[in-house]
This record gives sequence, structure tokens and C-alpha cells, in this order.
Amino acid sequence: MLLEVSGTVRVPGDKSISHRALLFAAFSPGASRVRYILPSADVHSSAAVMRALGVRVPELSEDFVVHGVSASALVQPSSDLDCGNSGTTTRLAAGIVAGRAGISARFIGDASLSKRPMQRIARPLSAMGARVESERGEGLPMWVHGASLAPIEWRSEHASAQIKSAILLAAVSSGVGATVYEPSRSRDHTERMLSARGVSVSVTDGGVSITGNATLHAADVDVPADPSSAAFFVALAGLAARGELTLPDVCLNPTRTGGFEILSRMGVRVTMQDERTVGGELLGTIVAAPGSLRGTRVHGDEVPRAIDEMPLIACVAARAEGETRITDASELRVKESDRISAVVSNLRNIGVDAEELPDGMVIRGGTQPLRGSVNTHGDHRLAMAFGILAALPGNQISIDDRECVAVSFPNFWELLASSTSVASSAPRTSSESSASGATAAHSGHAHSPQHTPLVIAIDGPAASGKSSTAQWVAKRLGVRHVDSGAFYRALTAAALRSGVAAEQWTEASVLSHAPRIARALTERSVVPTLDGDPADTELRGNAVTQEVSRVARMSAVREWVNDQVRAAGASTDVVVDGRDIGTAVFPNAPLKVFLIADPWERARRRLVQRLERRPTDAEIAAETEALVARDAKDATQSRPDPSAITIDTTTLTQEEQVERIVALAEVVRRSLSPPR
Ligand code: S3P
Repeated sequence: MLLEVSGTVRVPGDKSISHRALLFAAFSPGASRVRYILPSADVHSSAAVMRALGVRVPELSEDFVVHGVSASALVQPSSDLDCGNSGTTTRLAAGIVAGRAGISARFIGDASLSKRPMQRIARPLSAMGARVESERGEGLPMWVHGASLAPIEWRSEHASAQIKSAILLAAVSSGVGATVYEPSRSRDHTERMLSARGVSVSVTDGGVSITGNATLHAADVDVPADPSSAAFFVALAGLAARGELTLPDVCLNPTRTGGFEILSRMGVRVTMQDERTVGGELLGTIVAAPGSLRGTRVHGDEVPRAIDEMPLIACVAARAEGETRITDASELRVKESDRISAVVSNLRNIGVDAEELPDGMVIRGGTQPLRGSVNTHGDHRLAMAFGILAALPGNQISIDDRECVAVSFPNFWELLASSTSVASSAPRTSSESSASGATAAHSGHAHSPQHTPLVIAIDGPAASGKSSTAQWVAKRLGVRHVDSGAFYRALTAAALRSGVAAEQWTEASVLSHAPRIARALTERSVVPTLDGDPADTELRGNAVTQEVSRVARMSAVREWVNDQVRAAGASTDVVVDGRDIGTAVFPNAPLKVFLIADPWERARRRLVQRLERRPTDAEIAAETEALVARDAKDATQSRPDPSAITIDTTTLTQEEQVERIVALAEVVRRSLSPPR
């Protein structure tokens, strides 16, 4: 069996930039717009902390505005500042508080964060004049008593962006100057964002300075995709037997690209395209493909530029020829887990020859199947790094805590499932099944090696009849049907079953139910199951109908549903209906149909279905008004893809609509299967 990868993987926003976008917007007076923020647990912690300090930070979404205040308007929090699992939240917010005389805050966090070293920020902040005390001498809980700080010149022992940022933010918060030297350059998003907000930042060899009296002004941020998250998919492509993955809009800031350089040196084929600078950060598209992998040496200045990718590099090294040696990386011991000891012991647990060094590790790669269980210690990057090894056919690796990925990459497992499939080494046949864990088997056409799947994407405004028409078309063509709406309904039903009031649902809370949903094939339709059951009546019921649009508005949920649909329709002939299908989900679908009908007719059809009788004109008029209002709200979603064929169904019966689409499909099908 071979692993094949394909498609475009949109990894979520960069975690470091997301934290900073939020923290900086919150204490820059004025309106800052933030787009594409990472809606992960860690970033929620930063939002919660700034709210506790008196800033009105709205619920995180794909596009929102923070009305920031000046540092002097921050207030004494009325409770502990809970930073969850996030070191960045703790250390950067500690800097902000340290510069505010009159504010005293107690920082707390989960078990992992509570153990992480805080003296590294306590010492410089105390040297500036703040009082910083860990209740247990180190780690959290930690008190920060703010003060009017003195300027500082600090030589950090560690190449750490969090230490550097804590000092720079403390200086800005108190209006004094600061210079920080570090042994090698750590990620520089803070410097870039300060300068985008009007602070004069000078960067010299080994050091960065800001002058006193810096005032921040509001600025908009578009968060690029996270290179540390993208790295998992670059590695996956490198380990696969065939295919390639495209990762658009990834942050290519040179202080972050060490992981890609190491993977490329190990033999993964990595190319960067379409590079451009947006809001002071370089970004571009990465295309990654399989290569023959060999061990490498990682040390020195390269380490901070790839620090978060080290667990992944170690896992790739397990499948590379020869030895990989990582040194100068003792910082790994104070991450979300001791990543040297945890990575090495887990590699050994699954049968890899690996050895711990005081400041790194040695891994000797092999080709034997890997079997065993992984203890993540709740560390997201361990779960994902070993998740990549677990996706390779032949390996049997169980991971104790898959949910911990929520701190940095909530939809990791869904994207992993939708970008991979398992193929036999013989020419592909229709019995190949996806590695996604779906119980669906392929239906429809047998695949010859030349066969390009016929994907028919059917979209249209509300009540255009797309779902029933799509089902009928699939039946006529004898191919699979996927109704994307059912997946929004399944997630809604899962959230309702949890008993939490709908008003309190957040993207993260709704998405936390995703693992309860699987895909199954009934007749020729791919349908969701909830807790192992298709739950069809519940999904169509009133309670779900009432709340489903709340869920469908959440962008991370849309991504998740899109991934489900992509996976359900991967490499087979399929008819798919729903929003985003022809644009986001199957942009290369060979046949896209956009159904329209005048609102009166759509209202009439909807009422016939609902009332099971002929509606009166007054009823149709009222329903028309509601539909028109909904169309206006939907305007961005219901635009046809430019390559879609629009069919006005106002005067067509359903049979006639189906016939037209089937006729188009036959033409497209002939063009996809060249005569042999
Ligand atoms: C981060 C800096 C790094 C990194 C972490 C995020 C940041 O930590 O490991 O995931 O956003 O500043 P250190 O500063 O401790 O190296």
C-alpha cells in the first residue's frame, strides 16, 4: 500500500502573528482590523487576557475589528489572568502589565504552562523596575506588579522571541527605550509589527532597539498561514509515494523558514512560488512533493529558525536513510513538554533507533513498519508530528490525545484526512479507499489509470432546489452524491446534544465535536454519522434547523465541512451540492452548475415542500420577502463561479432540470475519458 497526497491545503493563520495581532491591536488606540486570525485555544487565551485588562475584544472570527486603548487606559483585572497552555500569551502579556504602574495581575495556566520557566522574563522585567514573583519560585502562578519602568539594555541567554517581546512590550507600555541582544536571531514578528504601528525599531547585528516614548497607532493585519503548521504537510508530501500538496499564503519570514530548509535538505521536494510582502511579512505558496529522504545535521543558528518544527524533523528522520543529529537545541526541554525526552521516548516506543543528547537527539532512520503508542503529554506538536508517521500505510501508531492539536491547529486531523489516500502499488481500481477513516467505499465508475473523476458541483441561492436536483442527477448518472448541508446539520446536532446553550457556542466549542462525526455511504450518498449513527430524523428536525445557520456562519466550521466534502468526493465521480462547492471545495470541477429561479418561484417550491399543499398567493408573497432578505445577506456566498453554467429553472420542472444537467454531464464525461 502506498500513500498518495493531493490537493490544496489551507493551513490556518500563524500562531505567533495571531497573538501579536490581537495584543498589539488591543493596546493601540483606534480601530485595527484583523483578518484570518488563527481561532485556536492559545489565541483565545490572548483575547481573554486583553478582555480582562479592560479592552473590548470581540469574538474571534475571520474578519473583525478591535477598538484598542492606550496603554494608560488598561485596567486592574478583577480575576486571575488564565493563559491556558500558551507561553506566548503569558510572557507577552506579562510585559504589557509590567509597564503599567498601578496594575497587579496573577498569571495562571494549565499544568504544562505552570511548569515552564518564567525567570527568563522575571529577571529583565525586574531589572526595569517591575516586581515579578512566581509563587513557587519558578513557573506559574506568577504575580506581575506593574511600575513606571526604566530603560534597559538586556543580553538574553536564549534566542527567544517571547523574552525579547516581553521586554519590548514592557518598554512600549511604560514609554521607555529598550535594547535586547540575543545569541542568535529569534522570530522577529514583534519588531515588524511595532514598526508597522509607527514605532522606530532599529535592528543591528545580534540586537534590536526601540527608543522611548513610542506610541502605537492602529493598523490592520492580515495573518498569513502558519509555516509551523504548513511544515506538517510539507513533511507528509515528502514521505508520500506520489502526488503533491500545494500550501497557499504561507508566512515565509526568514526567521521561520528553517524547518522548510531542513526538510528540503533531507530530500523533500519543496518549491516556493508567488512570493510577496503583505503587511510587512513575506508570504508565498509552497508546493511539496515526495523525495528520497536522507538524514541531516541540525545545529547552531538554524535551530531557533526551526524550533517548533524539531519534533516533526525527528519523526521524518525516522523514515530517512542514515543518521540525523540535532544539537544546540536545549530550549526544546522547556516547551509545552520536554520535547527532547518526549520525542525520543516516543520514537523508541514505536520501534525507532533514537538517542537523547543533553541539547538534542540522534535518530537513525529505517524502513521497518512502526508500531506502538505515543504519549503526547498533551503537547500539540507531538500529536501532529507522530500523526504524520501514523498516516503512513504499514505503520500502526496510536496517539493518546489527538484533541490537544486545538491549541495551534484545530482542523489538523480533518486536513490530514482530506489530503491523503491509500493506494495499492498496482494501477488504481475503484476499490481503493481513503485513509481518512471514512467508512464510505467508492461507487460509480471504475477508474482506469487515465480516468479523471467527473465532479459535478451544483450551487445556487437558498431554495433553488439544488439538493433534490443533485440527488436525482447522481442517481441518473450512477455516481456518488454528497450533500454538504448534512455535515453542518450533524455538527449542529452534536453541539445541541452537548447541552450548552446555542448562544454560548463558539467556533472552537462547535468544532470540538468534529471527532464524533464520521462519513458513511448509504446507497450512493455520503452521509454524516453522529456518535456512530446516521441520526437522519434528528438532523432534519426543527431544533437543528433553527441553529444550523449559526454554525454555518463560522468560517472554521465551513473549512471543516469543505474538508469532509472534499474527502468524500476524492478520486471518484461525484455530484456535490451546496455553498462554496464550485469555488472553495472543488475549484477544478469539470462541470459546475449554478441554479437560479425567480424568488416567487423559489418561495412557491419551498412552501409546497413544507406545507404539502398549494400555497396561497399571500403565503408566497410573505415567503418571497423572507427569501429576498436572505439572498441579500448571502450575497457573498451565492455568487456563481465564473466557469459555472447558470441554469434558470423558473419555468422548468424538476425532471427538465435534471435532464439538462445529465446531458451536460455526458458531454463532459466523454471529454474526460479519451478513447483508448
Ligand atoms: C513564539 C516563540 C517561540 C516558539 C513559540 C512561539 C512566539 O518560543 O517556540 O511557539 O510567538 O514568540 P520561545 O520564544 O520560547 O523560543
